[in-house]
Formats: sequence, C-alpha cells, structure tokens
Amino acid sequence: MKIVRTVADLEHEISKARSSGKKISFVPTMGAIHLGHVSLIELAKSNSEFVVASIFVNPLQFDSVTDLEQYPKHEAADIKALESSGTDVLFLPTVEQIYPNGNAVVTQSAGLVGSLFEGKSRKGHFDGMLTVVSRLFDLVQPNVAIFGAKDAQQLFLVKQMVREQIGSGLREPIEIIEAPTVREPGGLALSSRNERLSAPEQTKALALSKAIELVSSNVELGAGVALAHRLASSVFSATPEAKLDYLAFVNPETFEPVSDGFTGRALMIVAAEVGGVRLIDNGLVTL
Ligand code: PAF
Repeated sequence: MKIVRTVADLEHEISKARSSGKKISFVPTMGAIHLGHVSLIELAKSNSEFVVASIFVNPLQFDSVTDLEQYPKHEAADIKALESSGTDVLFLPTVEQIYPNGNAVVTQSAGLVGSLFEGKSRKGHFDGMLTVVSRLFDLVQPNVAIFGAKDAQQLFLVKQMVREQIGSGLREPIEIIEAPTVREPGGLALSSRNERLSAPEQTKALALSKAIELVSSNVELGAGVALAHRLASSVFSATPEAKLDYLAFVNPETFEPVSDGFTGRALMIVAAEVGGVRLIDNGLVTL
C-alpha cells in the first residue's frame, strides 16, 4: 500500500492507475478503522482493480469543537488495517491539502433533507460532509465510491449531490455503492464512536438496534406508523441511559417522513446519546 499525504502525490498515483486502464474505487473515511470500514474496502476490491482510501477528520462537518477533538485518531493502527485489507493507496492529507490557503469553507448545500434529523441536531454537518466528499471526489475521480448504510442520511445526500453534479455536467459518473451495516454479535452497529463507550454503556447502546429489531419482527403490513413508533419508543423508555434524539420512519426514496396512514416499506432511523456519545442506526421495516 502506498501512503500519500499531498494532493500532488495522490494525483500521481491515480494517473498511473488510470493510464494502466484500472477501474478505481474510493473509500473515504475519518479513520479509527474498524471491521465496518474493512467491509467497505472489501466491497471496493470486488468492484474495481484499484482501491484508494482516505483518512481525513473533516473539521467542516463538526458543529462542536469538543466532538472534533474527541474524534478517535489511531494513524498507525489504521494504516495496518487498511494495508492488510488490500487498499492500494491511502491518502492521509492535512487540512491545508484539502482546503488550501486557509480556505476551509462550505461549498455544498445539503438542502432540505440536510436540515432534517442528523442535520437538525448537528447544524451544518451535512453541508460540511458534502463539501469534503465533493473535494475528495474531484481529487480521486473514482469510478466507484463506497459508503456504509449505517449513515443512511449521509448516503442519501451523497447520492443526491453526485446525481445533480453529473446531471449538470460538473462530474463524470461515479457509481455510489452502499455497504451493509456491520454489527457486533449483540446487534450494535459498528462505529468509530463506539470505542468511547464503556462496557455497561455498550449494553445500553443496544437500545437502538433492539428498537429496530422489535419493529421489524412485530409490526406487520398495515399496522401503521403509530404502533411502530410506540413499540420502538418503549425500548427507550425502558433504557433511560439511551437518550433518544429522534426516531422516525422515512421514505427511502426521498428521506422525508412517511405520513401517518402510510403502509409499506419504510426506513426506520434512530439517533440517541449514550454516555455522551452520539449513536445512529437504521433498518428497513414494513408498516
Ligand atoms: O462517514 C464518514 O466517515 C465521513 O462523513 C466521510 C464520508 C468520510 C466524510 O468526511
């Protein structure tokens, strides 16, 4: 695995791969690599001949300095994990490489969907996330990019941005591939933030996946949103240590909440804080 830290070195490696006719896939990350990221690299490998990964903790997508400072950083371990999972090039830029001349400003708007759910609780998060993803796409120009299904709203917004950019001739096509959420044996969705949870907090954090599981195995077609909401909420009432932020059922095609009378497939999305750590999860359910 080649490690590059500058845009010039990245572009050199990419142009070598491209001129030898290789299909390029890209896995952007913020580091603290876990098995969920490894599954993204594996998916990238099975969809291309050349895998580029990046580790960049993007200051523009944090609305709290504490959250940014507390974001886990383990460069040496991350390098090992990405190398052994088959990454060809790892891009490890500084803030100056990504936003030259101190120009760390938002250039993308996540629009209406960007202001809902995660976007409501983390102001500006999605504008900042799209800004860095767009910048990274400009640099890597991948044929394929892989994003985890756990960050469902992020995935939706990246797909929407790429569709619009391609439609307006600003970008060559990029296939965005969704990687299924990887879970601990108990159901907790893997996340870099989990390492900040103590063992008892990890148990409380199961409330998120339990709520999704309860709805998906107990709510039948036609039962409705209200019942599903009540069932899922009961898990959080029984686990006060998991402080619920939102619990909603959205149309996976628009990411807007389904109406009260809706029946059919919906994406259940949930966010809660456990021990000061913000956690999200989601799953498809039938209402
Ligand atoms: O999901 C993440 O780790 C980040 O939001 C991403 C896509 C790498 C952009 O900083």
